[in-house]
Amino acid sequence: MKIIKAVKEMGEISGDLRSKGEKIGFVPTMGYLHEGHLSLVGAAKKESSTVVMSIYVNPTQFGHGEDFDRYPRDLSHDKEMAQERGVNFIFAPTDREMYSEEHGTFVEVEKVAHILEGEFRPGHFRGVATVVAKLLNIVRPDIAVFGQKDAQQAFIVKKMALELNFATKILVSPIVRERDGLALSSRNVYLSPLQRKEATVLYRSLKLAEAMVADGEKDLARIHEMMVKMINAESEGRIDYIAFVNPDTFETVKEIRSIKEILALLAVRFGQTRLIDNLSLKVKNKK
Ligand code: PAF
Repeated sequence: MKIIKAVKEMGEISGDLRSKGEKIGFVPTMGYLHEGHLSLVGAAKKESSTVVMSIYVNPTQFGHGEDFDRYPRDLSHDKEMAQERGVNFIFAPTDREMYSEEHGTFVEVEKVAHILEGEFRPGHFRGVATVVAKLLNIVRPDIAVFGQKDAQQAFIVKKMALELNFATKILVSPIVRERDGLALSSRNVYLSPLQRKEATVLYRSLKLAEAMVADGEKDLARIHEMMVKMINAESEGRIDYIAFVNPDTFETVKEIRSIKEILALLAVRFGQTRLIDNLSLKVKNKK
């Protein structure tokens, strides 16, 4: 496995790989790897012959007062894990490589980038879309894999790739969970033992929504209310949002009768740590 720091070298290597007929699979990450990231590597390997992983904590997607400075970093451990899973190249650029002092070009995805996560983290998706566009242009992969845990991010990246005519096919890989249901996230390390225990309520509340929909509940306000009740009763977590959207458009679902699948999403803060999760709810509509 080779570690590449320079944009120019990464571009040359990927050009070389392509000219040799390799199919490049790309896994963009911010490092501090866990099984969730490694499952993306597994998905990339299935669809490609060479896997490039980027490890870059992108400053432009963090707002003022967010956790950019304390975001966990451990490149030597990341290298070991990536190598073990068969990553061929790690692209780990410096900030200066990625953004010149005069950098002034950003990618804006309208509407969907300003709701839910975008409302609570203004500018976040502008940073994500910009860095992903840059990474896709540098690596020029055949496929790139994103995690379903960041469902809104995956939706926005797909939309950007489609609308800006990127040649890369965007794949989305399922959420990987701990045995108790907590979705894997690099931010889980911030949780105290009590918060870690309480954070399992996120998945339980999503499963509650799933069970209610499966039982024929059609009133989303009622499901929302029951989820809030559960989270408040079982944790100190402070809810930023619980939302139900159409997974094909990310528009809020108002009428449960007219849809086959709903994506339930939530964001909850445990102390300083903000966790997100989501679950697809299948609706059985009677004829
Ligand atoms: O999901 C992440 O880790 C980041 O948002 C990404 C896609 C690597 C862009 O910095």
